[in-house]
Amino acid sequence: MANLLEFKNYSMGFRDDNGDVYNLLDKVSFTIEEGKALGIVGESGCGKSMTSLSIMQLLPEAAVVQGGEINYKGENLINRTKKSMESVRGKEISMIFQEPMTSLNPVLTIGFQISEVLKKHYPKMSKEEIKKRAFQQLEMVGISNPEKRMLQYPHEFSGGMRQRVMIAMAMICGPSLLIADEPTTALDVTIQAQVLDLMQKLKDKGSLMLITHNLGVVAEICDEVVVMYAGRVVEKGTLEDIFENPIHPYTKGLMASMPTLSSSKDELYTIPGNVPIIKNFSKGCRFSERCRIAGEKCPNCEPPLVQIGDKHYVQCFKAGKGGVNFD
Ligand SMILES: Nc1ncnc2c1ncn2[C@@H]1O[C@H](COP(=O)(O)OP(=O)(O)OP(=O)(O)O)[C@@H](O)[C@H]1O
Ligand SMILES: [Mg+2]
Repeated sequence: MANLLEFKNYSMGFRDDNGDVYNLLDKVSFTIEEGKALGIVGESGCGKSMTSLSIMQLLPEAAVVQGGEINYKGENLINRTKKSMESVRGKEISMIFQEPMTSLNPVLTIGFQISEVLKKHYPKMSKEEIKKRAFQQLEMVGISNPEKRMLQYPHEFSGGMRQRVMIAMAMICGPSLLIADEPTTALDVTIQAQVLDLMQKLKDKGSLMLITHNLGVVAEICDEVVVMYAGRVVEKGTLEDIFENPIHPYTKGLMASMPTLSSSKDELYTIPGNVPIIKNFSKGCRFSERCRIAGEKCPNCEPPLVQIGDKHYVQCFKAGKGGVNFD
């Protein structure tokens, strides 16, 4: 199957007030195949959002790209100017974020905002066609009475409906890739389920990159998983690889902290410590200070990325042949 998106040894960091650059994303490599859903998981501060913002060239001011490639349909997007990315955004690749209220303009009707997306990419499209497509799209995301709804403002919609409007806007130009960064975190549980249902359906229309803290959501929707820790891909593989045969101590920790139907909140494992800020990253394995099996080498040398299955890779000294049994 062809790769739609490929991160190849992509690195970026941030410049501080003294002009020194500290690395965050370090030689990040993974692929998303056409029609597949990839989940990116990891605790807060691991670089998940910076990964997705890098694709769209939407990084914060202080960010510095340090090397590597982000290939989309075979073209390295890093070489594009910011201006030329505008024709990609919304048409080829769309993004939805955690808080739909901040992405919608409160003083413009929903219909106007949806139409704007189409007008931007198809300036010659007729008014009737725009209206027709906007209707279809709102119905697709389960918003009934679209005629009336198009004339309303964002505050007249509930949180879940606003998120569905955002999904409608993201999908209206038929993008090949949808990036969803914590699309359900701000929503209550029943609405979360509706939005997840919708994401499932979207999988038939293109590829999905789903960023979330919620491993349960990943298990439900994704084909492959990338586990990030402190800006590095510490483990990646198919859903089965990661959920049934996790190797990296960090992945194992994440799995153990995942609530199941039978576990109560107080039984849940939490990985001790926190993700360090970028200035405090260890020069060896960045997880070493929190790792219960770290050896002498771990904080001082960067571990190799070891292939242990067809698509299964782990960045750990203790993975692979002759490795230590974790359990
Ligand atoms: N201007 C900046 N200068 C230095 N470091 C920064 C700057 N902006 C962000 N960072 C660092 O980038 C990291 C945050 O990355 P990112 O937002 O991608 O994390 P995330 O995995 O998306 O987290 P969350 O789950 O909370 O959304 C943090 O380590 C933070 O310290
Ligand atoms: Mg984030």
